[in-house]
Amino acid sequence: MTPPSTVPCDPQAPPESVTPLIRGIAVLRRLTDADGSLDLGELERATGLARSTVDRIVLTLARTGYVRLAGRTVTLTPRLMELGNAYLSSTRLPALLGDAVDALADELDESVSLAVPDGDGIRFVHQATRRRAMSLRFRIGDLLPVERTAPGALFATVWEPGEWHAWRERRARDPEEAGFPSLPPRPRQPDRFFEERVASARADGWALDDQLIEPGLIALAVPVRDAAGGIACVLSAVSHTSRHTAEGLRGGVLPRLRDAAAEMESHLRTAAQVGAVPTGADPSPSGGAGPGGAALASWTAASKQELGREFIESLARGLTVITAFADTGQDPTLSDIARATGLSRASARRALITLEHLGHVTVDGRHHRLTPRVLELGYAPLSRTTLSRIAQPHLAGLAGRIRDSASLAVLVDDAVQYVARAATHRIMNVDITVGTRFPAYATSLGRVLLAGLPAAELDPLLARADLRPLAPHTLTRRAALETVLDGVRREGYALVDEELEAGLRSIAVPVRDRSGAAVAAVNVAMHSSSRTIDECLDEVLPGLRSTADAIEADLHTAARFGQVAVV
Ligand code: PHB
Repeated sequence: MTPPSTVPCDPQAPPESVTPLIRGIAVLRRLTDADGSLDLGELERATGLARSTVDRIVLTLARTGYVRLAGRTVTLTPRLMELGNAYLSSTRLPALLGDAVDALADELDESVSLAVPDGDGIRFVHQATRRRAMSLRFRIGDLLPVERTAPGALFATVWEPGEWHAWRERRARDPEEAGFPSLPPRPRQPDRFFEERVASARADGWALDDQLIEPGLIALAVPVRDAAGGIACVLSAVSHTSRHTAEGLRGGVLPRLRDAAAEMESHLRTAAQVGAVPTGADPSPSGGAGPGGAALASWTAASKQELGREFIESLARGLTVITAFADTGQDPTLSDIARATGLSRASARRALITLEHLGHVTVDGRHHRLTPRVLELGYAPLSRTTLSRIAQPHLAGLAGRIRDSASLAVLVDDAVQYVARAATHRIMNVDITVGTRFPAYATSLGRVLLAGLPAAELDPLLARADLRPLAPHTLTRRAALETVLDGVRREGYALVDEELEAGLRSIAVPVRDRSGAAVAAVNVAMHSSSRTIDECLDEVLPGLRSTADAIEADLHTAARFGQVAVV
């Protein structure tokens, strides 16, 4: 899977294809290969595109909210994950099978994953990971070569000669496995070794990875078949030689893995009978820069109007065609895509032809389907993100605008712990660093988080809390604190004035996850002489709220099909 060396001219591209879309996708791929971030000059070199072209592509991608440009550094944003989310929602595999995978991981107390084939690689579409110190963990979107995995041997049982040929060619072309950046290097096995594993997988109906990825890591895999008998995906249990031998994994776990696969197959059969099962389409409006649904085309037109020739409308439109698959039914036709995006049939058709040429869409008669290759557009590096990394640029933006420090914190027992922070350079700066903890009851961050707790958690926490006076105005009576928390719930913010420290005032709002739970809080802290309370509400609160909204929008996109850790 060595990337083509340059993009400027693609002799194989069909005449109707959209060159700016090909180039824009090449830029996204290079950024993905570089783990999410490159300098503009490096991007020019990596793509072979002219500087002015790279500039226009980056400006267009920044306008769609898919990259951020800071100085000369271009960075992929969590919002880009909406492309991969469109694929994951349209395949329905995570929606239909994810719960069963998670339940199996709990039962086995091992990591369990679902993988699909992507050319001569496998890509993960669901991961239920047990945290273990010892081994590498792969994420949704990671690509591994078939020959070094358990699922790969199963997928290759149905390969045609052309696919074997492509596999041998890739091995010859890329002996260092540069096309698989998430993979640690290992001594190379001869081709025959994989051919024999595939023959065994065909005979046995299961496959083993005995430390092919790295020493210690073992995986056992079985196919999950679709209603027509093809392999829809492969279910793997992943362990370590410190817990199981490969033999022991097969003996102990194979029966349970097979039962789980049979149950998953019945979910797939039911879904095929019912037909229009929910795609897991995201009901929440996509926050951030661009709009969703059929307003897409008018949004790109308005951006063109505003930014003129620097904005490449055909690139923005082509990418909206990918996201539209999340809003259409299964296997949409050209008309479905045109309707979902608001694009003309001619524009939608050219975008689909281009995406098919790039391997992101397959066509069967009138029907179109996204391929797992869409995940190569940023998904794997972005799915390693954390809430604190998601928040950082938004906090920096806020702190820059209001010229006071902004922070993100979570609740740890009865304390708030700072997990991200953007400080300003005022002389009277509030001196707090990431990792700092304060008692929750006396801080705006803590009050927002306490107000978000269910009564069953809040009551015992308040019962054991030692409400000590820390500063001139600290509330120390539980009843008074509960009244304040009611107000926080009603108003959606907490303002704390000289309760933690004399001269310190802060205001906070919650950051909610997809289920509506307040998982973190953002605040702005200032010296009480710098603004009156009314000024704080008028000048700081609106920006604080829109910052929390932007963090939430990114968090919801990033957590749609996976877990986002706090740090
Ligand atoms: C994984 O899910 O991390 C995994 C699965 C199968 C393998 C290796 C790793 O062969």
